[in-house]
Amino acid sequence: MKPRLLKVAILAAGQGTRMKSSLPKVLHPVAGRPMVGYVLDAARALEPERVVVVVGYQAEKVETYLGDRVTYVRQEPQLGTGHALLMAMAALGADEADLLLLYGDVPLVRSETLRRLLDHHRATGATATILTAVLEAPTGYGRIVRDPGSGSIRRIVEEADATLDEQALREVNTGIYCFKLPEVLPLLDRLTVANRQRELYLVDLIALMAGQGDLVEALVARDPGEVEGVNSRRQLAQAEARCRADILDGLMRSGVTVVDPASTYVDWGVEIGPDTVLEPGSVLRGRTRIGRDCVIGPWSHLVDTVVADGCRVWASVVEASELERGASVGPFSRLRAGTRVGQEARVGNFAELKNTAVGRGAKVPHHSYVGDTDIGAEANIGAGVVVVNYDGLNKHRTRIGDAAFVGCNTNLIAPVEVGDGAYTAAGSTVTLDVPPGSLAVARSGQRNLEGWVDRRRPGTRAAQAARQARERASGRPGPSADKGAQERTEE
Ligand code: UD1
Ligand code: CA
Repeated sequence: MKPRLLKVAILAAGQGTRMKSSLPKVLHPVAGRPMVGYVLDAARALEPERVVVVVGYQAEKVETYLGDRVTYVRQEPQLGTGHALLMAMAALGADEADLLLLYGDVPLVRSETLRRLLDHHRATGATATILTAVLEAPTGYGRIVRDPGSGSIRRIVEEADATLDEQALREVNTGIYCFKLPEVLPLLDRLTVANRQRELYLVDLIALMAGQGDLVEALVARDPGEVEGVNSRRQLAQAEARCRADILDGLMRSGVTVVDPASTYVDWGVEIGPDTVLEPGSVLRGRTRIGRDCVIGPWSHLVDTVVADGCRVWASVVEASELERGASVGPFSRLRAGTRVGQEARVGNFAELKNTAVGRGAKVPHHSYVGDTDIGAEANIGAGVVVVNYDGLNKHRTRIGDAAFVGCNTNLIAPVEVGDGAYTAAGSTVTLDVPPGSLAVARSGQRNLEGWVDRRRPGTRAAQAARQARERASGRPGPSADKGAQERTEE
């Protein structure tokens, strides 16, 4: 027998009043990814023939995020979940299909669970199959009301409308259902707003189906945490914690050491190779990819960064950058967007790099700011070097050649080029290109004003130290002068 078509509807039109947010609820991120993204992925794993997403509140934002992989239906105004499904019916069609219905605010449901729900639905031939969960704290959820005798499902009652006895029920509606699609439309027309929230409740379909003798089935979720909905910031944090633990578990299973899961934060979609160690305080965000045999942290924050094998990032912040094999960064460095650290190159302590390429084996080891610069292979950037890349109007590029040696506290006034194998003297302010192999000295000569301290700072500790140095050099003490100095210091 040919399996029936599968169609999916995802309800994502609500504002999410309880979030107190200007962002639509389903776009709030969990582990860096909007909730509705997880829901869509889980549903698509079942290879549905069509996915219809109902949008309403800030519809454009949700559509922009999900892109053109799905069909959109606008629900305006939002008169409840039943009304949302009603809006979707035309786009879903009336074929002999199964409808898998999900809410965009139940982000952590697994595709395997959806698959079990659909299999159960098809095996029993039910008109509706509800994914339910048995919760310790069912507050806020619709409760599943069963016939006391047969145990069959009679209806779902929303908390606001439930009696105290019904509120005590711990089996809840997860908001995930399978329906026989052709059975839905006629019943949707019979929903009313006769309830506390004055909304068209989708859940009332269940009472209508049970009332006309249709088979209504339930599948109880094995892991209730997977199907928890997010209505508040508190529940968002709970979903975040659960998702984070899942991500870290997956990484550990694939051979990543996570020294302290409690202080490690990894976004959904971050890739990490085996034998990499995440030390405490590692935060890996966005489209970050890390190779094998790396050590990240303690205390490092990487965003949208690609790290090759065998790298070290210690107590540093790295954004939209790239580290090649064996590179090392930190402690206490900041790599801003567009930075590439070449093979075996070393950056920091205390360096800030922006839009800069560091050549293979080069070093920027201490207290530098380097922006808009290409640094050659095996170059050495001394302590305190500043690339003066900004003239107040424009940014300019600087080039430092292979094996160049930029002396401590050099200012390189961009645009400027330090040639291959060239040196700059410490403290130089370099405004002209330095030819390969030359030494640039760009600082004023030194003058020593002999005896200045005796003349201008007499009687100070410095004057005393200077005199003692002279005496040691000439080999004889000067007692009278000594006494005078003491008298003055005691003043
Ligand atoms: C809903 C269920 C409840 C269930 C719970 C599971 C109903 C009436 N209640 O309650 O039984 O236990 O989910 O998490 O269905 N939406 C629209 N248009 C609307 C209203 C809502 O698209 O007019 C969307 C929302 O964006 C959201 C989803 O439907 O993604 C659920 O709506 P929400 O208001 O969060 O329902 P709950 O009160 O959580
Ligand atoms: Ca909800």
